[in-house]
Amino acid sequence: MSKVTVVGAGAVGATCADDIAQKELCNEVILVDIKENFAEGKALDIWQVSPINSFDTRVKGSTNDYSMTAGSDVVVITSGMPRKPGMSRDDLISVNAAIVKSVTENVIQYSPNAIIIVVSNPLDVMTYQAYLSAKMPSTRVMGMAGILDTARYRAFLAEALNCSPKDIQAMLLGGHGDTMVPLPRYTTVSGIPVTELIDADKLNAIIERTKTGGGEIVKLLGTSAWYAPGTAAAQMVESILRDQKRIFPVCTWLQGEYGLKDIYLGVPVVLGKAGIERIIELKLNAEEMQLLNDSAKAVKEVMNVLDNMIASA
Ligand code: 2OP
Repeated sequence: MSKVTVVGAGAVGATCADDIAQKELCNEVILVDIKENFAEGKALDIWQVSPINSFDTRVKGSTNDYSMTAGSDVVVITSGMPRKPGMSRDDLISVNAAIVKSVTENVIQYSPNAIIIVVSNPLDVMTYQAYLSAKMPSTRVMGMAGILDTARYRAFLAEALNCSPKDIQAMLLGGHGDTMVPLPRYTTVSGIPVTELIDADKLNAIIERTKTGGGEIVKLLGTSAWYAPGTAAAQMVESILRDQKRIFPVCTWLQGEYGLKDIYLGVPVVLGKAGIERIIELKLNAEEMQLLNDSAKAVKEVMNVLDNMIASA
């Protein structure tokens, strides 16, 4: 019997729960939300897809009753305010930190052995907040951003190269923000280095578009994205529950890797049933290292804001 809880039944959480159910990644999905009857309604709607698309993962909703989440193997935290046009992810910190703290404490009370995947923004710092509140080994507390950011990069590349997105593999480092570091040297199209297939100018334009890919959607929709973020989180759940040991960029607690310490940042990891089973250290050149350090600095500044908020509370 495997069980996944998704906290936050907004568009990201509901998409994630829906994808987990449709792919039958576990026996039961519990969707939790603070808004009265909201998770129950979304869960009922998703569950009513089961006879049509033929899945038997049971989806149930709960208004803030965490006892229903007891014994979850994986918990995805999507709660918090999304961005509005003109806001950066960092503008959400004070509201979302309090939410992530209380959600994590509730989750841990009923599922002390769960693996936690944070999706709330500002992503890297909210993952740090969950780590502080969960008091669990860092291998079990991680954030989803890299799969989403590489998906955007891969989708843009597929469009530019007029080829299938399935054939584009890519790696990306850093925080989930405008300083993220897509890595052309680690981007291939069916094994062919991408630099052999596209001009440097076009590739640079795609990298820049990727960095602000979330903001592009906020501008179009007036709120932040959900299909790709929710599905990306579900892909992490899949790798963990099925012990696939896939290699993804994941927001991870670094303890000296890449010369960085005491920071949550996106790096490639092996994701399996124990959570983050291995951190992969790439041999970066000087320019890539500089970009990663710039990204780490930007994340660390927001982590310091959170540390100060906690210290003065
Ligand atoms: C995004 O990049 C919501 O941060 C998320 O779309």
